[in-house]
Amino acid sequence: MQVLGIDIGGSGIKAAVVAVDKGILVSERFRVPTPKPATPNNLAKAIIEMCNHFDWKGVVACGFPTPFYQGKCLTGGNLHTEWKGVDVAALFKEATGNEFTVVNDADAAGLAELYFGAARGVKGTVIMVTLGTGIGSALFLDGKLLPNTELGHLYTDKGILFEKYTSDFIRKKENLSRKKWGKRLHTYFQHLEMLFAPSLIIIGGGASKKIHKFIDQIQVSVPIVAAKAQNDAGIIGAALAVKK
Ligand code: BGC
Repeated sequence: MQVLGIDIGGSGIKAAVVAVDKGILVSERFRVPTPKPATPNNLAKAIIEMCNHFDWKGVVACGFPTPFYQGKCLTGGNLHTEWKGVDVAALFKEATGNEFTVVNDADAAGLAELYFGAARGVKGTVIMVTLGTGIGSALFLDGKLLPNTELGHLYTDKGILFEKYTSDFIRKKENLSRKKWGKRLHTYFQHLEMLFAPSLIIIGGGASKKIHKFIDQIQVSVPIVAAKAQNDAGIIGAALAVKK
């Protein structure tokens, strides 16, 4: 089975056709910048452009950067406040005529790791954290996803959201060296270790490619690895959500 997988992020929208059973891309990736402002109206236009680019008529799976409650956005995340309460799947279906499955972006990335990557076969608690524009999380217990966790929304002891302290966006914005950023990540992962005693932490998002540049700063007992599917995890994982 093939579906069009789309990963909607704070800065870019990436898509490719995915062979769901193998968890691999079977087309080139196509990327468009996330429209500004990222309102429902503007994003729906970008999704139409995506479907047209692939000349796609069929099932589309989307990783979307907000938590969901009963199919609707619980917040607007880093996109736009207008998303709160929106049924994203219904909106995109109306715009394109295609059937949509929409899940939280970090949950999607986590599913890719569970089926084909670093979380495969791992017992106990596994946490995937995506470091990008924001911080997203996927939490698994013995291979079962607890959806819509928001572990980037924990607070530091200075009352700052970890998402506003340790995301990759903040690293760039504050021009942090990898060493300084790594120290902040150390605080974050130490906190996660203490709260969940996970068997494994997986780092995803754009930063996962450069894990060797900051991993030395993070001293926790739990093993920390880069996502195997790396930047494609969002696209592949969204497609896997259709299978479930
Ligand atoms: C949102 C999450 C999302 C993460 C990464 C956060 O701001 O609240 O739902 O997974 O960004 O995109």
